[in-house]
Amino acid sequence: MNANANIGVVGLAVMGSNLARNLASREGNSVAIYNRSPEKTHDLVTAHPEANFIASQTIDEFVGSLAKPRIAIIMVQAGKATDAVITQLAERFEKGDIIVDGGNALYTDTVRREKEISPSGIHFVGAGISGGEEGALNGPSIMPGGTEEAYGHLGPILESIAAVAEGEACVTHIGSDGAGHFVKMIHNGIEYADMQLIAEAYDILRQAGNMSPKEISQVLETWNGGELESYLIEITSEVLAQVDAKTGKPLVDVILDAAGSKGTGVWTVQSSLDLGTPVSGIAEAVFARSLSSQAAQRAAAPNFSAGQTAWEIADTEAFIEDVRKALYASKIVAYAQGFDAIRAGALENNWDINLGAVAKIWRGGCIIRAQFLNRISDAYGKNDALLSLLFDEYFVNAVETAASSWRKVVASASLAGIPVPAFASSLSYFDGLRAERLPAALVQGQRDFFGAHTYKRIDAEGSFHTLWSGDKSEVSTD
Ligand code: 6PG
Repeated sequence: MNANANIGVVGLAVMGSNLARNLASREGNSVAIYNRSPEKTHDLVTAHPEANFIASQTIDEFVGSLAKPRIAIIMVQAGKATDAVITQLAERFEKGDIIVDGGNALYTDTVRREKEISPSGIHFVGAGISGGEEGALNGPSIMPGGTEEAYGHLGPILESIAAVAEGEACVTHIGSDGAGHFVKMIHNGIEYADMQLIAEAYDILRQAGNMSPKEISQVLETWNGGELESYLIEITSEVLAQVDAKTGKPLVDVILDAAGSKGTGVWTVQSSLDLGTPVSGIAEAVFARSLSSQAAQRAAAPNFSAGQTAWEIADTEAFIEDVRKALYASKIVAYAQGFDAIRAGALENNWDINLGAVAKIWRGGCIIRAQFLNRISDAYGKNDALLSLLFDEYFVNAVETAASSWRKVVASASLAGIPVPAFASSLSYFDGLRAERLPAALVQGQRDFFGAHTYKRIDAEGSFHTLWSGDKSEVSTD
């Protein structure tokens, strides 16, 4: 076989086959493909003769069909399957060749794999790819890590298949080793928060506003014309408009209210806990899915007399506008927290991540693509050292404009007994961030009382411990 494919794809499930088709559709690419079970390869070649794939039955054939430096993108399930394919390729690849993992790998796995492979001179690149099936086919947002050298070869190919936003390809070299997968993980965490916030807005409009899914769908369509414009608002509007063919009911009413997950949201929260970065909006979104899935516990809940009071709505339009503003402000907090987590992860792992560039490549192709990512990219473009997105002038203004609606919505939902964990935690985070003084002083006192953990004073350097019982005097422990 002639070794003339400039790129190969291993793993031809939906994402892999769509990515391979996307690659094949771009000028200058010749795409090798391989799948463990040959039927999938056969099906893809038969269904898409226009792609001129170079198909292989064995891994040896596949490697033999790649021109040097060989580049293979692995699109298999994260975890053991990925490790198995990496081993197969690494055994056959040579110095200078490039193995790309395009799955949703845990970034620490990517760091480990890079460390294991790099002594051989083979490049290992963990690349986050977002956009689902449609994005893989027509243009995803791509977040590659790995070395500069690897990106030099890989970059032009990825740029050719990525989504384009405002004339720019939605791909950039994020940083070394696991940086790309780390940023993709945070992308997914933000995705969870964004979805949960939209779901809470829907729940309020439905329960307090007595609106039908169809009416809420129309509201979202309107919102999509303004500062909330985003893919997630757009698809939510479509989901709410869908009617179930079997029952004639809104489809959303016949879908079981138990949300699943594949783990990237949990990873985001776990990593952020380790980094000491509060991502409360994302965490509440993950927990909301967990609670929804606790079927036995929910079914067994007593019929509590929970002290709710009805949400009196005098002006429906004003009510809808309050919910919109609360959603926007909470969303800003979720993104601010996500970007904080990226900064903290970069610091911890010595990655030089350009936050403005990350916002730019999320403007197209990915699940959280949204108009307001332009504002985020502007904010970090103006000031890369911005301590919080919430401190940028545009976002200060946005949150101040929304603040009273935000409070009204959170308070009224709470009084009406409508759960709004992501709205409420985002508002509390905002209030915590801007508070002049937090009750953490009291927590320090408690810690020192029972564990002699010491505390710092506002008026003197050093660590102090109080003899809480006895003469109540204070001793410096430095
Ligand atoms: C994407 C998506 C994609 C997937 C997530 C969400 O960016 O294209 O984030 O990666 O849909 O894994 O999955 P769960 O909600 O099942 O965790």
